Amino acid sequence: MKIPLCKPSIDNKELRLVNKSLKSGWLTHGPDNLIFESNFNKLIGSKYSVSMNSCTSALECAIKCLDQKGEIIVPSFTWVSSANAIINTGCKPVFADIDLETRNIKPNSVENLITKKTIAVMVVHFSGLPCEMDEISKICKKYKLHLIEDSAETLGAKINNKYTGSFGLGCFSFFPTKNITTTEGGMLTLNNKKMYIKAKKIIAHGISKSKEKPWERYSILPGHNYRLPNHLAVLGNAQLKKLKQFNLKRNYIANLFKKNLNKFNNLIVIPKTPKNFTHVYQMYTVRILKGLRNNFVRYLNKYGIEASVHFDPPLHQQKIYQKYRKGNLKNTNLLSKQIATLPIYPDLKKNEVDYIIKIIKKWYFKSQSKV
Ligand SMILES: Cc1ncc(COP(=O)(O)O)c(C=O)c1O
Repeated sequence: MKIPLCKPSIDNKELRLVNKSLKSGWLTHGPDNLIFESNFNKLIGSKYSVSMNSCTSALECAIKCLDQKGEIIVPSFTWVSSANAIINTGCKPVFADIDLETRNIKPNSVENLITKKTIAVMVVHFSGLPCEMDEISKICKKYKLHLIEDSAETLGAKINNKYTGSFGLGCFSFFPTKNITTTEGGMLTLNNKKMYIKAKKIIAHGISKSKEKPWERYSILPGHNYRLPNHLAVLGNAQLKKLKQFNLKRNYIANLFKKNLNKFNNLIVIPKTPKNFTHVYQMYTVRILKGLRNNFVRYLNKYGIEASVHFDPPLHQQKIYQKYRKGNLKNTNLLSKQIATLPIYPDLKKNEVDYIIKIIKKWYFKSQSKV
């Protein structure tokens, strides 16, 4: 059996809608972007949303909206985009540690790194689980820092009924592995009108048009082309309708893993969801103990299961990020050597989940006899 790590769910109705949109002749940012943004506001509870061509663009745009340069505290245990967006906007990442159980940035690790140069905190909601936003929001308020949420991996998860992306400047990804997809795509969510107007300019070349003479176009800032085309917004709208169903299915699969793997916790540690938090399992990650992680991933791969690792090496261990300030990254160092990602996606079938569990059990009993 061959089981990929991720598989997007795009149905025929969605293909027809995209086809129709392409045939309409409107191929760039257009009316469906506005519908997508409005639907996103309703979901997240944000005042404004700006659709873009990626989460990386949304992260860069969010930082540019701050109108400040300085240090931004971010976990080292993340995808490169989080730190790249900071560096590419003329700021400096400062790497904070994570909690071993949630894999998310630790509030006290953030607070220990704040200096006069700090302008913002960028949390990363890892694999579908929100960070401890009440504590982090309090820290940001206390030190007057901006709050950016890299929510690329977490769409639809809540803490006490409040969605990720509604605490600060929220950045989402619609890459094919994410909770919904527009192939490539992203969204910025925010509540500040001034920043919203600026974000709209940044994504479309920084151009302002005069009402009297619309052919005269003035550059009011050196903008980018971060726009999401209309037909991808059409796909985004259709996918958004299925988000709840998608996340329920991800949770159903996660529960099957939990039920079957929980008892092997001397070697395989499954993820836990804190009270009052929801998890949307963009990834299902386990900790493999006793130095056996690589052996586990290779074993599953040998049986056609595309298990993988997110993230090893963490950013602070990579050459281009080594010059930046960092805290004590003990948990990050440990977790990056233990973490493994199992396939999870809405179209993963029960017999495929059973097969993954069967192979993991086989690996467990084989390894158990050796340790
Ligand atoms: C935490 C995190 N941030 C940012 C990104 C970048 O998203 P995009 O590919 O939409 O730019 C990803 C995607 O893999 C991610 O996992």
